[in-house]
Amino acid sequence: MIKKTILVPLFFIILCTAACEDKTALKTIYKNDFLIGNIITPAYMDGDNFDLLKKHFNIVTCENDMKPDRLAPANKGGAYRWTEADRMADKAKENGMQVHGHVLVWHSQSRAWFTAGTAEEAKENMVNHINTVLDHFKGRVVSWDVVNEAMGDSITDPSDWRSSLRTNSGWYRTLGPDFIELAFRTAREADPDIILYYNDYGLNNRNKAAAVRNMVKEINDKYKAEGNSRNLIDGIGMQGHYGLWLNIGDVRNSLELFSGIGVEISITELDVESRQTNSSEWGVNRNSVMPEPQAQAQANLYAALFRLFREYRDKIARVTFWGMDDKNSWKSVGNPCLFDGNMEPKPAFLAVSNPDDY
Ligand code: G3I
Repeated sequence: MIKKTILVPLFFIILCTAACEDKTALKTIYKNDFLIGNIITPAYMDGDNFDLLKKHFNIVTCENDMKPDRLAPANKGGAYRWTEADRMADKAKENGMQVHGHVLVWHSQSRAWFTAGTAEEAKENMVNHINTVLDHFKGRVVSWDVVNEAMGDSITDPSDWRSSLRTNSGWYRTLGPDFIELAFRTAREADPDIILYYNDYGLNNRNKAAAVRNMVKEINDKYKAEGNSRNLIDGIGMQGHYGLWLNIGDVRNSLELFSGIGVEISITELDVESRQTNSSEWGVNRNSVMPEPQAQAQANLYAALFRLFREYRDKIARVTFWGMDDKNSWKSVGNPCLFDGNMEPKPAFLAVSNPDDY
């Protein structure tokens, strides 16, 4: 028989764990839906900023510090630079947050020498980079953006995904469309435990979404036809850099499209600018408090997005914001974040906290 002296403290521990859970934290609000993340940057490593990150989020992505140009040496043969990324990954893990890796293969923020030589050399450079990085972070990073932004922008025939690819990429120029499959196969072999993502922006564009869907499906079908029981590309990351111009039906269309090919989906870089049209001038001023109508319009859109994400919670593994506050955001003039430049929660924060009330 279990003694009363054990049962009583156990009861209080259970009671306290339930009661101590902060019900205003986004990670608590969405705990039954998906992981909820934000970026980690040098500005968010300490003090109140780090506390806010830790309070609300259970997974982080380095905004810049795991990109190829931050890790790989400027010249071939030089030493990799791990200090900043290690500090971020370790601090996140020590504080109970998981880490998503961004990014292994990208045309931007990369190293010119990767693709400066022959196709054989480029292959070798890619394989070495992926192996080096995955080996270094083994056990500390749960998922990686293996390939980022390979798809082009003006797509007329999405059924031909190869000719829809971005051509201003060193990887594409040197290796052609096959660079994508090579990157995923290398990552899978390097570390079978991590979740592999294809990540891109503008996946609310129906043609671009269809081209990505066709690419991922074809690569996964081929991999499975070889006798593999799982996908090669585990997930599609929809970056989610949106503005008030967004047609939310386009986002639903993409969620539906990607759900249909049996991959998981993550929203990987969510922010909603206060611009009214995709091509209009930037929104209100950097670090200012937004005028009420724009703040409310932004909050309404955030709420609508989170109601939609909840509908697809069986398919969506993670929703990550690309920035905490309007002052530090890469698009700070568009005021796209949940907190303003004074770190005060905006209507957008309340909307995400309680989307059904909007
Ligand atoms: O660190 C240097 C600093 O030493 C220097 O004084 C300063 C001068 O401009 O530049 C600093 O580097 C900047 C870096 O952000 C850190 O702030 C770079 O110039 C700037 O280009 C870089 O921008 C990043 C951008 O990617 C580059 O493509 C943004 O922070 C980052 O948010 C953004 O993230 C991308 C995702 O990786 C992929 N999807 C799109 C997203 C937004 O562009």
